[in-house]
Amino acid sequence: MHLGLLASTHDVGRDYWLRLAAGLDRVELEIGPGDCGFLTSAAVRRPDTLYVGIEIRPSSVARILERPGLPDNFRLLAGDGRWIVLNLLAPDSIDAYHLYFPDPWWKKRHHKRRLVTDEFAAAAWRTLRPGGCVQVATDVEALFDEIAQALQRAGLVREPWLRDTQDPACGSYERKYRRQGRTFTHALFRKVDSGS
Ligand SMILES: C[S@@+](CC[C@H](N)C(=O)[O-])C[C@H]1O[C@@H](n2cnc3c(N)ncnc32)[C@H](O)[C@@H]1O
Repeated sequence: MHLGLLASTHDVGRDYWLRLAAGLDRVELEIGPGDCGFLTSAAVRRPDTLYVGIEIRPSSVARILERPGLPDNFRLLAGDGRWIVLNLLAPDSIDAYHLYFPDPWWKKRHHKRRLVTDEFAAAAWRTLRPGGCVQVATDVEALFDEIAQALQRAGLVREPWLRDTQDPACGSYERKYRRQGRTFTHALFRKVDSGS
């Protein structure tokens, strides 16, 4: 298990994840999954994919891991997802990142805590497989613009994301926003496969 290392290694590769359960072919990662509503529902729908959440609040992680009947292709780690992507994940190892309603502290004075910086965007590009993508949803327009610009500067290409707004695979924030009829922005940024 590499996740306790303090050294910068970039050696947690695709094999590490795919060995965790039988029959897996893909790895998708949500940073800050909260109640894991998206991950657990997506995992049931796609048994060939490992859905991993990295949540910074250990108490949330402990609470979720007590739930009975979690899918075999779901894993939840306590840690700083930003640090893990920057320092531990191997190049070309992840099929998709999900960043849903990140950065509750999006105001300027909380800038130090920002998840998507140029450094993070470059790490997302490096660790995504060719053809893989970053999917983003947020209700904060100014934050969305910053995230979109950083991801595009890193080389990811924005594509339309035809999100089904009734899709049950979503987290508690999206569920709340739908209930309240509030709008939010969602977008998809792809690491275009230069071979295709
Ligand atoms: C606003 S909530 C959104 C939860 C979920 N994605 C959703 O859509 O319902 C943001 C979550 O990100 C977590 N978080 C913030 N920074 C993080 C980081 N660097 N690594 C992992 N989790 C983080 C918070 O603890 C919180 O659970």
